[in-house]
Amino acid sequence: EPALRVALLGCGVVGTEVARLLTTQADDLAARVGRPLELAGIAVRRPGRPRPDLPVDPALFTDDATGLVEREDVDLVVEVIGGIEPARSLVLAAMAGGASVVSANKALLAEDGATLFAAAEKHGVDLYYEAAVAGAIPILRPMRESLAGDRVRRVLGIVNGTTNYVLTKMDETGAGFGEALEEAQALGYAEADPTADVEGFDAAAKAAILAGLAFHTRVTAMDVHREGITEVSAADVASARAMGSVVKLLAICELSEDGQSVGARVHPAMIPRSHPLASVRDAFNAVFVDAEAAGELMFYGRGAGGAPTASAVLGDLVAVARHRVGGGRGPGESSYADLLVRPMGET
Ligand code: HSE
Repeated sequence: EPALRVALLGCGVVGTEVARLLTTQADDLAARVGRPLELAGIAVRRPGRPRPDLPVDPALFTDDATGLVEREDVDLVVEVIGGIEPARSLVLAAMAGGASVVSANKALLAEDGATLFAAAEKHGVDLYYEAAVAGAIPILRPMRESLAGDRVRRVLGIVNGTTNYVLTKMDETGAGFGEALEEAQALGYAEADPTADVEGFDAAAKAAILAGLAFHTRVTAMDVHREGITEVSAADVASARAMGSVVKLLAICELSEDGQSVGARVHPAMIPRSHPLASVRDAFNAVFVDAEAAGELMFYGRGAGGAPTASAVLGDLVAVARHRVGGGRGPGESSYADLLVRPMGET
């Protein structure tokens, strides 16, 4: 059987782990898919940079991402560049060329998912993005597939590892926000520019994606009310503690009482220590889903980091590769169309 050819866009923390797993687990992946998965190329900014830890052929690296996605021998494209451009143009070019796409890009999906879903529809390809929300935790596929016969009422959770780490340290040590953030940065939990995390943009993008899937409507990051954790003081955390509570940054997506509109918001909240979310510490994530027939479901695990996020990417890659081998795609056209039809507020 000929191999399915995979183009990897981006080789940072997540991309490196994806390339590593594609190489080291090649036999297992081939067995699960029914055909080998083979790296066709890896688009990076600096192809010449030595990567001694990565067991792949250096000749695979290129700085011509557009040329790579337009190659005829590319079947599947993995986008782990992040940000809106050039990621959006590359993903659209890949789909136009008939490739299925796996993306970990929450900002892009939250800002312009509708354009991407429309392109997937038009070109008859798959677009999977499990890694965009809560890293390793399988949450999007369960919502899109396992709960497709139920009615979700509310999705609530901790979806940003960096801020949860900072709030956990503030709770444990009594440190202020700045000091806890510095520790998180020193340990590599927070990025050098932590704005997207601490101001709640990252969580808002994830909330938009979750709300869209949960309520079968279009929600963008702009629709999400957002408040980050920069104003949370040591005194706030101490008074929460005195009341038997912890401060957590929550993402909340819910239907209005009459079921006619959707609300999504991200803000710090006090959680009683007895609540399961209070025990979600450090960089872990947890998401609760409340559905009419299922009742309450809880998803917990590592929401960030190279290997956990790569796990979700590889799972998506196996799924879209299986569809290729099976001659179809899934989970069915209607699930994309579903995300296209109604703007928020017209559920
Ligand atoms: N910066 C994100 C977080 C990474 O801290 O959760 C995963 O999206």
